[in-house]
Amino acid sequence: MADAPAKLNFEGKDFDYKVLSGTVGPDVIDIRKLYAQTGAFTYDPGFTSTASCDSAITYIDGDEGVLLHRGYPIGQLAEKSSFMEVSYLLLNGELPDKSTLDHFTNTITRHTMLHEQMAMFFRGFRRDAHPMAIMCGAVGALSAFYHDSTEITDPTQRMIASHRLIAKMPTIAAMAYQYSVGRPFVYPQNNLSYTGNFLRMAFGNPAEPYEVNPIIERTMDRIFILHADHEQNASTSTVRLAGSSGANPFACIAAGIACLWGPAHGGANEAALNMLREIGTPDRIPHYIERAKDKNDPFRLMGFGHRVYKNYDPRATVMQQTVRDVLKELNVTDPIFDVALQLEEMALNDPYFIEKKLFPNVDFYSGVILSAIGFPTTMFTVLFALARTVGWVAQWNEMISDPEQKIGRPRQLYTGPTQRDYVPVGQR
Ligand code: CMC
Repeated sequence: MADAPAKLNFEGKDFDYKVLSGTVGPDVIDIRKLYAQTGAFTYDPGFTSTASCDSAITYIDGDEGVLLHRGYPIGQLAEKSSFMEVSYLLLNGELPDKSTLDHFTNTITRHTMLHEQMAMFFRGFRRDAHPMAIMCGAVGALSAFYHDSTEITDPTQRMIASHRLIAKMPTIAAMAYQYSVGRPFVYPQNNLSYTGNFLRMAFGNPAEPYEVNPIIERTMDRIFILHADHEQNASTSTVRLAGSSGANPFACIAAGIACLWGPAHGGANEAALNMLREIGTPDRIPHYIERAKDKNDPFRLMGFGHRVYKNYDPRATVMQQTVRDVLKELNVTDPIFDVALQLEEMALNDPYFIEKKLFPNVDFYSGVILSAIGFPTTMFTVLFALARTVGWVAQWNEMISDPEQKIGRPRQLYTGPTQRDYVPVGQR
């Protein structure tokens, strides 16, 4: 805690508010008693200056382009770690030793199967349904199946629900994809890695053996690491808010998926690749840059800009390098990658983007890789949701285990009519 309180002079009276310090990052002014003391609320739509909770999971320094999970830089984790290891780290706070990691991986692997009746839900969707629509429905439906892990005051049940969610997400994502292309569902196979298993369930076909390509497996695992958590972003805050009422954990994650779908959030990866394809060739880039700068045009450069990063998103740095490596290793050329590189260069040298500190974010390059791997654009946000599930459940667990946890209940600045009397319909 900082020594000196923050002082507020309001309607002629002085009030002191404690200033709390984290281990790193900006101090926060503790205004929990503000309303009781002053009768006033704070006003911060979009939460640009509001810390909604304390958390020991993920730290971002947006000015410096730093992202740490439990203290470890994202670049190191992406290069040296695995998604299972990062998942353990996010959930439990420390990197696991070898036998703990094996045990954790085994637990997740053994939860990948879905209740057989879940397949019926998929068949109720139109074949052309967006896979994010299917994800929202299918993950919400899990709440109807796993009643033995929904007593949220019990840490063991919370952990079982968390493991189930992390494990079943790839199965659901792969089923959503297989359904959309009219192929049969492929069941999990326990001798494969988390990511290898997902690739086989997504691209495999029961008539033939499926060989997991180790380059694609490693790349996909890295993409999952890059998306695993990002502190109090919109979908994570949605999961926390839903969970703050004591709601079913599977339903809370379905709420997070719904929020992630939006183009300003996880839906940006799909929108970014669609944009790059629409631009098509480098000569058309200036036109799109001009459109992005035009206040009368709703067009934005998708995969550019971030609420927190006012510097290069460190995930985009890894992603850009990964695209280079993967295209080289798979011996694939993609003209869209050149469009992306040139668009980035032109935007980063343009005064509009410099002044507003708009840099590529994680979604700018991810679509190029995912498309090279063979995923259609509609699956991109599904893959984001799959990976972010561990972050959501880690944050949800942290919130529920906080003894001071309260239901999230923001207030408002009311601007509607003041009280008036009802007029019967014939007299209006
Ligand atoms: N292209 C053109 N102008 C932009 C862009 C962009 N991509 N992003 C922000 N701006 C401008 C915006 O018009 C505004 O200008 P002004 O101050 O003149 O009104 C200024 O920059 C600040 O933008 P904002 O919308 O007030 O900032 P925000 O923090 O509320 O929004 C954002 C952040 C990510 C929603 C926004 O940058 C955006 O819409 N980017 C494109 C979508 C995207 O890539 N989203 C993925 C985010 S990263 C992954 C994730 O979180 O899921």
